[in-house]
Amino acid sequence: KRKKWLGLIHSTLFQCVNAFFKMNVDLCWICFNPKTASMVQELVKEKAVEALKKCFASRMEFGTAGLRAAMGPGISCMNDLTIIQTTQGFCCYLEQSFGNLKERGVVIGYDARAHPPSGGSSKRFASLAAAVFISRGVPVHLFSDITPTPFVPFTVSHLGLCAGIMVTASHNPKQDNGYKVYWENGAQIVSPHDKGISKAIEENLEPWPESWNTEEALKSPLLKDPYQDVHTQYFKAIQKHCHHREINKSSQVKIVHTSVHGVGHTFVQSAFKAFDLHPPYAVEEQKDPDPEFPTVKYPNPEEGEGVLTLSFALADKEGASVVLANDPDADRLAIAEKQESGQWRVFSGNELGALLGWWIFHCWRQQNPDTAAVKNLYMLSSTVSSKILRAIALKEGFHFEETLTGFKWMGNRARDLLDQGKTVVFAFEEAIGYMCCSAVLDKDGVSAAAIAGEMVSYLATKNISLSQQLTTIYEEYGYHISKNSYFICHDQDVIRSLFDRLRNYGGQKDSYPTECGRFSISAVRDLTTGYDSNQTDKKAVLPTSRSSQMITFTFSNGGVATMRTSGTEPKIKYYTELCAAPGNSDVTHLKKELDDLVDAIVENFFEPVKNKLQPKPE
Ligand SMILES: *[C@@H]1O[C@H](CO)[C@@H](O)[C@H](O)[C@H]1NC(C)=O
Ligand SMILES: *[C@@H]1O[C@H](CO)[C@@H](O)[C@H](O)[C@H]1NC(C)=O
Ligand SMILES: *[C@@H]1O[C@H](CO)[C@@H](O)[C@H](O)[C@H]1NC(C)=O
Repeated sequence: KRKKWLGLIHSTLFQCVNAFFKMNVDLCWICFNPKTASMVQELVKEKAVEALKKCFASRMEFGTAGLRAAMGPGISCMNDLTIIQTTQGFCCYLEQSFGNLKERGVVIGYDARAHPPSGGSSKRFASLAAAVFISRGVPVHLFSDITPTPFVPFTVSHLGLCAGIMVTASHNPKQDNGYKVYWENGAQIVSPHDKGISKAIEENLEPWPESWNTEEALKSPLLKDPYQDVHTQYFKAIQKHCHHREINKSSQVKIVHTSVHGVGHTFVQSAFKAFDLHPPYAVEEQKDPDPEFPTVKYPNPEEGEGVLTLSFALADKEGASVVLANDPDADRLAIAEKQESGQWRVFSGNELGALLGWWIFHCWRQQNPDTAAVKNLYMLSSTVSSKILRAIALKEGFHFEETLTGFKWMGNRARDLLDQGKTVVFAFEEAIGYMCCSAVLDKDGVSAAAIAGEMVSYLATKNISLSQQLTTIYEEYGYHISKNSYFICHDQDVIRSLFDRLRNYGGQKDSYPTECGRFSISAVRDLTTGYDSNQTDKKAVLPTSRSSQMITFTFSNGGVATMRTSGTEPKIKYYTELCAAPGNSDVTHLKKELDDLVDAIVENFFEPVKNKLQPKPE
């Protein structure tokens, strides 16, 4: 017994010393950057224990989405040191994975983010990452200026590189930054690469001497600037999706564009030019990159109207009827349209998915009158997005597939299909992400903006608004009305009990609810356990993951509801949609039915733990 105690004391002591030593080493490395060093000194002086813990408590986890965290000192934050450590690990992992890394190389892009207090910026992080690769003799295609995120996957495919890195935090608050990685197939990485890279990072924490030397690296013959070439090739590639070059002559429609202080402005202007469209009016206050995002509360066009206030003002002044908005790294796109009432309608991600999916199929059909070709055609969406593409596919005879949530799944699935000789024309997710052009196997707000611009112009020549076209789509393929929201919950036990209750409903083990209020449930799919009542072998087709919660109910009335936890936020999200049969156009009734369904779900599935959940803030 004494031995056991002694052993325990020893190991605890060892851990303490080890942790102390490690923290000192980290602190020492941080001193390479005087700004992060002085931030730490300041925090120590103020005895800001909580703030220090936030910076040093645990290393950022490298996942399939790469990294995303606040810029600042410590292993929990984005800074020079953690960028070097991450890139060293990524570089070693690529060396193990590709025998020809030194011939093929990588591409590195960055957005306009900067954080003066810690001296961190996307550009600086990108040059540090370049220095790491160059120190190992790996050629680096480092963009000489800011680019939209989709340019990185485009470059990976276009130049046949082993991987790509984009330094961006997309639409996150201004103090954040991120590190997104693409594999040689041009799509975001999937498991097990995340685990492999994570392990390689742990094994390469100590900075290599040359890793800091960005000056040397920027002079190296291994460094190339792909900017001009990629710029030319990208717009050439998206031009293939321009089908109505003549439209600018007959269309009088005026369009406003905002890049929300991000990178999108010049690229969307160029994309419109590539499509021979009249250039959109740019929102002056938001068109140039500004890491402070001074005119918006959150730089996220998904937040809807607040972000679009200045766009609406400009549109009203210029007599424009449509607003296009990119998020700061221009990989997503929001659209709003002025209604006859004078009010602006901001389309949901699902509604835009319906419009773009319809338009892309419409154009494809015109180019491919041969009816057999449709058998080779694919569209994809994530499983929590609207099923409208399924309805269009069913009627038109092309293929529709759903993937798990996250564009990494759609990008990789599109790659597989393309490799099998299939044509993939469109993929989307409800979070305003659209892939309208398979030259980029990720969401791309630049090509989506030009293609949407052409659609708007084409419809305008026929005196049809987007809202009217959306109604036409619903009349033809069936109304798809969705309602998504979430509850906030920080307690993992509450989340577990909520989902376990659904799996053992009414106290019966492994038994799911068969009804929810007055709504009868016709099928259940549980992607946490891998169960699907609608499959003959009861096994779900999509990959399952024990580490996250996700259950989908299909209702007899055509409703679908998914409840899932978010990997990155303390939320239980729910996605609901009522898919009506074509011909059923009693919208008022359908909306009421969906409202009732959502109420029933909240009452029956969330209510038992509702006092432990916070509703979505208004
Ligand atoms: C309109 O299209 C024509 C033909 O494609 C092109 O020559 C012209 O430059 C375009 N105008 C604008 C404003 O883009
Ligand atoms: C265009 O449509 C609107 C309403 O849909 C209608 O009021 C207007 O008269 C139409 N204009 C033309 C030129 O057809
Ligand atoms: C169950 O599967 C069949 C065929 O695989 C399909 O037609 C049907 O719509 C599915 N039902 C539900 C509720 O998902």
